[in-house]
Amino acid sequence: MPTTSKPKPRLTWLQVGTHILGWLPLAWILFDYFTGRLSVNPIQDIEQRLGRIGVYFLIGTLACTPLSTLFGWREFLKRRRALGLYSFLYVSLHIMVFVDLDYGFNLSQIYALVTGKLYLVVGTIALLILIPLAVTSFDYFIHQMGRNWKRLHWLIYPAAILSLLHYALAQKGDLFTLRGNILKPFLLGILLILLFILRIPSLRRWLSGFRSKLTVRTHHLPQTHKITPG
Ligand code: HEM
Repeated sequence: MPTTSKPKPRLTWLQVGTHILGWLPLAWILFDYFTGRLSVNPIQDIEQRLGRIGVYFLIGTLACTPLSTLFGWREFLKRRRALGLYSFLYVSLHIMVFVDLDYGFNLSQIYALVTGKLYLVVGTIALLILIPLAVTSFDYFIHQMGRNWKRLHWLIYPAAILSLLHYALAQKGDLFTLRGNILKPFLLGILLILLFILRIPSLRRWLSGFRSKLTVRTHHLPQTHKITPG
């Protein structure tokens, strides 16, 4: 008898992998906490790790579209929301550790610190941008907001730039002479620039065209390349 119910969407490997990847860092931090593997300053260790993971997921979110262009696999596009939300989760935990474990909710002290240090001002702006993006990332808002949804979500680019700047400024070293502990955020900055370049519409069109040509060629390989049984 024919049924009217919709077929259940099948889970894909990338989908499962994304969620494993999403929870793994948290499990790792908890494991290190309970087994005493954190550094001599455990709060700072957790706070820094959470911040870095937030940045990695943010860059991962921005990598989905270029990866889909390069490999022609649209599945990457479907993973953007989950990656973005994982980034927000880790950034939120990073801030919770700062506000609660580090400063015991001492709001006046936190306010003085946040307004007095450039890296915290930059981090706070990045956070203020990420909040509406996370809140409106659900289907309901995509339908309700129409074209404005895309306009708003374009803000992920400045959020990523500010997050990396916050990361770089939080390091001991000199961002402008690249001395000290700056190499990692610097390399991530280069990666971010590359991801931005791969979004240039004319380059995207060229890459898609190149990929299609390549696919057509490999489909029409001469028969002599085929292995015949026996
Ligand atoms: C999108 C928002 C944010 C991201 C992605 C982010 C990420 C990071 C990263 C990657 C670091 C450096 C970790 C390391 O040293 O390896 C860091 C440091 C830090 N962040 Fe954030 N952060 C954000 C917002 C904030 C906000 C709003 C605050 C507090 C108001 C904050 C407080 C701190 C503090 C205090 C440190 C220095 C920790 C230390 O070295 O002791 N962050 N953050």
